[in-house]
Amino acid sequence: MMGAVPQPFDAVDRAYAAELQREPDRRTRWLLQQTAATGPSRRALIGSLGVAAGARVLDVGTGFGCVPLELAAIAAVTAVGVDVDVDVLGAATRIAESAAASGGLVPGSSVRFHAADVLALPFAAASFDVATVRFVYEHIADRDLATDELARVLRPGGLACVVDVDDGLSISDPEPSAAFARVANAFRAAQAARGGDRYVGRTLARLLDAGGFDVTAVLVLPQAAYGLSLPSDPGRALLLERLRLARADMVATGLLDDSELDADLADLAAEVVHGQCQVEAHLAVVGRRRPD
Ligand SMILES: C[S@@+](CC[C@H](N)C(=O)[O-])C[C@H]1O[C@@H](n2cnc3c(N)ncnc32)[C@H](O)[C@@H]1O
Repeated sequence: MMGAVPQPFDAVDRAYAAELQREPDRRTRWLLQQTAATGPSRRALIGSLGVAAGARVLDVGTGFGCVPLELAAIAAVTAVGVDVDVDVLGAATRIAESAAASGGLVPGSSVRFHAADVLALPFAAASFDVATVRFVYEHIADRDLATDELARVLRPGGLACVVDVDDGLSISDPEPSAAFARVANAFRAAQAARGGDRYVGRTLARLLDAGGFDVTAVLVLPQAAYGLSLPSDPGRALLLERLRLARADMVATGLLDDSELDADLADLAAEVVHGQCQVEAHLAVVGRRRPD
């Protein structure tokens, strides 16, 4: 019998799996699990950007480094990922080294990681051909300055792709439970209190336009599922873990006190929904940096 044909992301997927085993109790486990589980939609998007061999790519707020790594798995790029969280950068470096060691990168490509804030990128003007930013604008207050920094480090004509959430693009039948609605509301308010915005998706095109980009595409990235929703679902555990991490911030909003939050999280953990249709979408905006 013939063996399975190796796929371009096999080595990358094995590297994510090894990193998940390495430190199962890390604070950002939810993000690493999500990174490992959401490969297909992310890879479809980055593949559609048409990044050419030789391109210099910057991924801002790179997390576990999935975008630079997966671009380097399909094209001979020089990719750099930056993040403010040095722990995730250490893991991103291990993942990239492991994928490279097992032949997961296109020959001639390279992936490096640095600690840096999107608001003060440590790169000279026009250092990059492509810049990507996924699920970072939702967390930062000064999104105009972030966009100015992207424009500065990209060469004229360079490509930016910014992807983010918009909680307005979420529907469910049956409607989410009252416990879910209360907790989601407090989670959104906690993010807003830190300067973030879970409705940022709809503003991305305007931000890029105002920051010196010609917007060439606004894409809706939908996800939909139908079925039995059970306490044992892996997605449920991921959601609860993320909510528990934000616990203090949610209580600080004053929308829920400790015991109300505990009761809602317990209800959420136990919920069984027979036949739930859930649809949500992220937004991706692609732009070209206008000449000076
Ligand atoms: C939700 S994660 C997304 C990670 C990655 N972009 C992805 O698509 O998987 C958001 C990341 O942005 C980083 N981040 C938040 N604020 C930042 C800032 N001001 N500058 C750089 N990175 C930032 C966080 O540390 C975190 O790793």
